[in-house]
Amino acid sequence: MKFFIDTANLDQIREAQELGVLDGVTTNPSLMAKEGITGTANILNHYKKICEIVTGDVSAEVIATDYKGIIDEGERLADLHPQIVVKVPMIRDGVKALNYFADKGIKTNCTLVFSAGQALLAAKAGATYVSPFIGRLDDVSTDGMALIKQIVTIYANYLFETQILAASVRHPMHIIQCAESGADVVTCPLSAITALLNHPLTDIGLEKFLADYRKGNS
Ligand code: E4P
Repeated sequence: MKFFIDTANLDQIREAQELGVLDGVTTNPSLMAKEGITGTANILNHYKKICEIVTGDVSAEVIATDYKGIIDEGERLADLHPQIVVKVPMIRDGVKALNYFADKGIKTNCTLVFSAGQALLAAKAGATYVSPFIGRLDDVSTDGMALIKQIVTIYANYLFETQILAASVRHPMHIIQCAESGADVVTCPLSAITALLNHPLTDIGLEKFLADYRKGNS
């Protein structure tokens, strides 16, 4: 399972890259705004900076919601850097655009997916990635992980090549459950990835190993 980091914060992206487990980055307009990145030129430049830090795919989201606008913006984003994946919302014109980009060999990430039907459409339209938002489903008392399992089954039934990118992943248990369910990718904050490191028995065990070493080597 690939690990993507869901942020536009360059320090956190660098930290995740240095950890050696990072496979890519996802961003969205809210995450860019959170970093204070505004204006088209700054936004495009920021995507380039992210691509220079990581070696994997970097999702850059279109703002346009009409077919022509999505195509124009998506092509501009894709021209920025070979690692750019055009992030397209799950709307009618978005589905048409996914199909267009697939024909052109431009990678896409279909975002804001909340149902199996939407995931089926994204795969049929040739999306490279589909992003079901599990945390936001959990937020409205709906089982986000059940959706991941449903999409895994549907894609396996028909050998769809679209990769399931579990998004809106909020904590380490989400990551573990995604791995159990067969998601291809998780995207989450750095804190969820580093939380996987923690176990009190590791800390206690290390402390004892070091104490025993010191006893014999002082
Ligand atoms: C994914 O691509 C989205 O940007 C993201 O995972 C949304 O997460 P949130 O629901 O925590 O905002």
